[in-house]
Amino acid sequence: MNQALQQQNAHMMARRSAALPRGVGQAHSLFASRAKGAELWDVEGRRFIDFVAGIAVVNTGHCHPKVVEAAAAQMEAFTHTCFQVVAYDGYVTLAERLNALAPVAGPAKSFFMSTGAEAVENAVKVARAYTGRPGIIAFNGAFHGRTCMTLGLTGKVDPYKLRMGPFPAEIYHAPFPCELHGTSIDEAIHGIELLFKNDIEPARVAAFIIEPVQGEGGYYPVPTELLQRLRALADKHGILIIADEIQTGMARTGKVFAIEHSGVQPDIITMAKGLGGGFPISAIIGRAEVMDAVSPGGLGGTYSGSPLACAAALAVLDAVEEEKLCERAVQIGARMQARLRDMASWAPCIGDVRGLGAMVAFEFFHDAEHTRPAPEITKALVAEAFKRQLLLLSCGSYGNVIRLMTPLTLDDALLEEGFDVLEASLRAVLAAQG
Ligand SMILES: Cc1ncc(COP(=O)(O)O)c(C=O)c1O
Repeated sequence: MNQALQQQNAHMMARRSAALPRGVGQAHSLFASRAKGAELWDVEGRRFIDFVAGIAVVNTGHCHPKVVEAAAAQMEAFTHTCFQVVAYDGYVTLAERLNALAPVAGPAKSFFMSTGAEAVENAVKVARAYTGRPGIIAFNGAFHGRTCMTLGLTGKVDPYKLRMGPFPAEIYHAPFPCELHGTSIDEAIHGIELLFKNDIEPARVAAFIIEPVQGEGGYYPVPTELLQRLRALADKHGILIIADEIQTGMARTGKVFAIEHSGVQPDIITMAKGLGGGFPISAIIGRAEVMDAVSPGGLGGTYSGSPLACAAALAVLDAVEEEKLCERAVQIGARMQARLRDMASWAPCIGDVRGLGAMVAFEFFHDAEHTRPAPEITKALVAEAFKRQLLLLSCGSYGNVIRLMTPLTLDDALLEEGFDVLEASLRAVLAAQG
């Protein structure tokens, strides 16, 4: 390898450490130079297979030609007007297209922000304005962002909430239903009933917020029965349901919105990540009547729904439709689960393999009863795969889950190549452990 290139990552990591606060974490000591599809090249010229996709963002692959072309064309025309000052077609067309897809009851309306956390903040604003109530019920293990309100909603202390409080008032957490870790659907519903009894009466609750597949918390799909019972509770008490689809949305799970798998209709949906194909945009989509509750001027932001990001998002929607990426997500997910189950047959520390579409995870334990999570195996596997130039990311309340979220455009050959590396990495980790 070119001598000048060697050590580039280490050199840049040193500059990074000197220039940035340590709170800005980084999963891998790696600096990118370019990326295409499901492959990424670093500043030393090495090629990596990407099973992370910028945390489920480039569902359409790095630098999808349609997305790049649409953004470049928009850049030639204009880059910023501030939508609330001078409007543009891309914003309205994107809203129309998402409204037509949204699985909510009756007509939908949408508006745009830049990040996932902003989308959640605004969903809460809309829910409070519509209901005139303050309370929001989230779930243990949830991740809704890093702003103060969204940290309040997030159900995990370390590292997100550590030394960050106080958080906004009137936020409550219910148990998340996860049989694997000992919480049943009945216990989750009972937890909500206890909140109603001990902490806040239902008449003061504006919304439940739930990720249809818990993301950072561990890639646990929410059982359909829980969503149905939540809908029934919501309807009984005039409470809204916000589906946080920031990680699950845009074809990742085999549907544009993951909640479609359940047939349950939320009142508001938040979306980000996959929507912009790498450009920062988030959406708040909901029942028109609910969305119109905020007075003019109460929603928006200088950069929200930027022309570039809207153009990119429209190209993402085209790619999802034309390349049948929902169907592809299902195929990728099935193949991933098959390979993971095969690995579990010789690696009993893999205690669970699960997924919805191409949102797939596997979880390590020290014991067959699943009482002792094994985050050290997870960490060692991520590190070993990295050495072999496969990018992986862990998650989960116990840090023992690996989540797979490849671009949905990757072909079978690259998927198998990545899995061959994953398998070899796990064999090496287990051999090292003796
Ligand atoms: C479900 C969910 N909600 C909200 C967020 C926050 O999004 P952002 O990091 O764009 O603010 C994330 C990010 O991972 C997420 O997964």
